[in-house]
Amino acid sequence: MKAPLEFGLIGVGGFGERHLEAIRALEQTGEVKLVAVGDPQLQRFPELAADLRARSVRAYDDYRDMLTRESGLQVVSIAAPIPFHFEMARKCLEHDLFVYLEKPPAPLVEQLEELIRADVRCRVAVGFQMVESIWSQQIKRWIVSGKLGDLREVRVGACWPRGDGYYRRASWAGRMTLGERPVFDGPATNALAHLVHNIMFFAGAGQEFFDQPNRIQGELYRARPIESYDVACLRGHFPSGIFFYAALTHATQEYLPYQMEIIGTKGWARVSKDGALLESSEGPRNCVESIEGLLLKSFTAFIDYVRGRRHRPPTLLRDVRGYSFATNAMLQSSGGMHDIEEAGYRRIENNHDSLYAVHGLHDAIVGALRKPQLFSELNFPWAVETPLITTMFAGESVNLMAIKSRPSAKPVVAC
Ligand SMILES: NC(=O)c1ccc[n+]([C@@H]2O[C@H](COP(=O)([O-])OP(=O)(O)OC[C@H]3O[C@@H](n4cnc5c(N)ncnc54)[C@H](O)[C@@H]3O)[C@@H](O)[C@H]2O)c1
Repeated sequence: MKAPLEFGLIGVGGFGERHLEAIRALEQTGEVKLVAVGDPQLQRFPELAADLRARSVRAYDDYRDMLTRESGLQVVSIAAPIPFHFEMARKCLEHDLFVYLEKPPAPLVEQLEELIRADVRCRVAVGFQMVESIWSQQIKRWIVSGKLGDLREVRVGACWPRGDGYYRRASWAGRMTLGERPVFDGPATNALAHLVHNIMFFAGAGQEFFDQPNRIQGELYRARPIESYDVACLRGHFPSGIFFYAALTHATQEYLPYQMEIIGTKGWARVSKDGALLESSEGPRNCVESIEGLLLKSFTAFIDYVRGRRHRPPTLLRDVRGYSFATNAMLQSSGGMHDIEEAGYRRIENNHDSLYAVHGLHDAIVGALRKPQLFSELNFPWAVETPLITTMFAGESVNLMAIKSRPSAKPVVAC
């Protein structure tokens, strides 16, 4: 057995706690040893801090000090907020480290392209762990083996309600920018971003590959007075002719676990119950997997790659081009966030938390899974027709500041 890889973690709270658990599990197999963490707010998590001290893990306020002083470091995982991913991943690459970078790797296409250029030795794995799920891998095998015929269409929908607590928990929640740093937080670009990336996975030729769409039309709205959006829909095409559709929101009262419809010329598959159930023309299959189990699978695949036991991790930076083009073109097509007028939603108070619930949105998303239509095609009075974006090439930038500065009818409140 080789010596454990020296591991560093950037960002220990929030989803970083899940990273800590996965690292702990890998420590028990002798694969890695957590030697240091970087987090300016470790004191917010006294129990974690005490546990790390007890394990002789060195703690740094500034992750850059960790990278400079920990000369034996080989592997780093980044579970810090989205606006910091770009500079953190770039810094880790300057130190020649292998990196497990949480999704999304960066908000903007041009940042992703810069990271791809910097990652000359393909050392960055991106934490879109859903592509490793039982159902994702099974559906991809059916597509690649031709069991579903030619893939024609992928549709996804989800309503994951989020209250004040979600938006208050972090300074970057519901933001388009944090200072000068792009954020682009929202259902399609954070909590449910996995679904968009999975569309690119299913469209890719070959079990491990991803495709990039060439035509996108998107709409972004906000019921909650935030800088970013809480209602999104987009549709697009791949050069192969495959069509896709996504409708994703945090602004409903009713929960709709994510659902995905995959339609081929000879068969179909449906994922529902947030990935727990897979039905298909091949028969049903129970796919229950915990987030912890899935994350450990993703970390294990990454470590296998670092050790040279597999030839690539499940998602490399370049594999995220499809997700990045789709979400950036959605933003460009939308022309920015459109406010949903007060008559269009209800604010529901619940134990000092409040939800914004858009009238008819849950049912519209359920319906769109059968008949995919943009919200502007569904008679919502607040919805706005948007143009089709056909020309987005690698490195082309979205003018986030111009889009962000569209005047809002609502006062944007700090979260
Ligand atoms: N893969 C998944 O299923 C999944 C699920 C949830 C979140 N995430 C991702 O995890 C990342 C973090 O999200 P979160 O909600 O946990 O964020 P968060 O705001 O809770 O922050 C996570 C940790 O990062 C620390 N941090 C903040 N600024 C830092 C800095 N400059 N240097 C080092 N550490 C810093 C915070 O103190 C905190 O401990 C995001 O990219 C998010 O999309 C992924």
